[in-house]
Amino acid sequence: MYRTNTCGELRLENLSQQVTLAGWVQKVRNLGAMTFIDLRDRYGITQLVVDDNSSEECKQIAQSLGREYVLQATGTVLERSSKNPKMPTGDIEIGVSSLKVLNAADTPPFTIEDNSDGGDELRMRYRYLDLRRNPLKNALMLRHRMAQVTRNFLDGENFMEIETPYMINSTPEGARDFLVPSRLNPGKFYALPQSPQTFKQLLMVAGYDRYFQIVRCFRDEDLRADRQPEFTQIDCEMAFVEQEDVLNVFERFAKTLFKEVLGVEIAYDFPRMPWSVAMEKYGSDKPDIRFGMEFNDITADVKGKDFVVFDSAEYVGAIVAEGCAGYTRKQIDGLTEFVKRPQVGAKGLVWIRIEEGGIKSSIDKFYTPEELSALAEKCGAKAGDLILILAGEKKQTLSALNVLRLEMGDRLGLRDPKKFAPLWVVDFPLLEWDEETQRFYAMHHPFTSPKPEDIEFMDSDPGKVRANAYDFVCNGVEVGGGSVRIFDRELQQKMFKLLGFTAEQAEAQFGFLMNAFRYGAPPHAGIAFGFDRFCSLFGGSDSIRDYIAFPKNNQGRDVMVDSPTTIDPAQLVELGIELKEVAE
Ligand code: AMO
Repeated sequence: MYRTNTCGELRLENLSQQVTLAGWVQKVRNLGAMTFIDLRDRYGITQLVVDDNSSEECKQIAQSLGREYVLQATGTVLERSSKNPKMPTGDIEIGVSSLKVLNAADTPPFTIEDNSDGGDELRMRYRYLDLRRNPLKNALMLRHRMAQVTRNFLDGENFMEIETPYMINSTPEGARDFLVPSRLNPGKFYALPQSPQTFKQLLMVAGYDRYFQIVRCFRDEDLRADRQPEFTQIDCEMAFVEQEDVLNVFERFAKTLFKEVLGVEIAYDFPRMPWSVAMEKYGSDKPDIRFGMEFNDITADVKGKDFVVFDSAEYVGAIVAEGCAGYTRKQIDGLTEFVKRPQVGAKGLVWIRIEEGGIKSSIDKFYTPEELSALAEKCGAKAGDLILILAGEKKQTLSALNVLRLEMGDRLGLRDPKKFAPLWVVDFPLLEWDEETQRFYAMHHPFTSPKPEDIEFMDSDPGKVRANAYDFVCNGVEVGGGSVRIFDRELQQKMFKLLGFTAEQAEAQFGFLMNAFRYGAPPHAGIAFGFDRFCSLFGGSDSIRDYIAFPKNNQGRDVMVDSPTTIDPAQLVELGIELKEVAE
């Protein structure tokens, strides 16, 4: 037996017990007559003491230890003379009678401490060492817990966990596919699923009316803190339901997670915000509603005063930064630079300070104090506040104002990661026009049902059609999204046509699904949550990487196993693939 106990469990009530522990050497302190060893495992740290009561052999071994050696220690649980209240095991130590090095270790390339001295790249290369550190261990424990609560909840609601294949063909979720060449079918490729979308719909046709899967999805897209090329969804589908049913079940699901994992009780119904309102008030389809600072459309109010920036703008929008009238020139210049960065793209920033004694602004030349007062009133600004205004092309200005709002939220401490403000964003447009390719794309995916009352516009004004689609958003993060599906063959065909598919293309790509619709497809709807994002939201972090045991870096590389990598030419030949040019 390697151990009787873990390094996290012994307490004063275990005094005098003979125990054996096994773990890694966190730290050795040699005080001459005594050597203290902190032994660590997944459960905690326990102090070992080697002193005159220990054998000579023990003393010698204790002298030879290095960091991260794997050690087995047997001894007696003793009360510490100087206790450490910061450690759960801080009241006791183990008086060692026998010590055995199970494996020596090279000195690790960075310290295995809560605040490591290792840089990002180095820690990624030695991910297995990084995973020994508490912050990562806690993140993975959180993930595990969330997966358990998810399975319990969904099982309790009659959802069946069913696996779907990873080697399929293209699924239209909007990103590029990762492809896998087939040796048995030369020149042909599998695609890894961007989601199990079509399979879960087929499961509905098959009669499994409540399905879920905690499933890996693959998308070849540009990476960001909240995006990985392979990520995990909690993927769900239900038959014989409407949007309302789906929102009800999954609102209860989200509340259960908050309660059971974080102890956070959300007693109210999640707000539901139409997509158009989210865009007008927050400039984002994933608004962070932990704080107000909603947009005020002042386009009509500011025109005709010879201020060319506003006169020529399609949209002029204002936000009120409460209590910021005292911002210095330098602070405002800083904000101006911030919004002018190419990523934000504003041309400039107009400000109005509402001070006790009067109003000051960067547009005093064009507007009278009365006009500025009227603007302030319209925006709901009061003495002590600062109004920030952006102007320009509407879509672009709303988006820039969103970035500015979030920045001000950060600066004013309004985005507390421990506070949660969930909501449903509903009534998304069905289609999105792309100027570059001059065609419509499905905003969610091509299987999403239009709102029945909007179907009549599908031919005359497709851009106006709203979808029965919904996103679950919390703290400015799109955690999940889903829709009611089309289950009528003809409507599905019409949708493919709107998206520019010829009948042959639609048949070639989705014939299997359209065929299935011939054999009694029930009405169905579903949702998928980004599991990694859910975890990072709960953990209070912006980056999903910390919640994935072995993630990719921002170039989509795993620097530990060094992938992707070149392939042996023989393997390529076998696959019938000829590389014209191999870029290093
Ligand atoms: P969607 O494409 O909105 O919907 O994806 C669902 C959720 O998955 C998460 N997500 C990601 N997380 C990490 N890295 C990525 N690259 C990434 N891409 C998406 C997001 C998102 O909300 N089949 C539909 C769902 C349905 O209609 O039922 C789908 O995949 O949190």
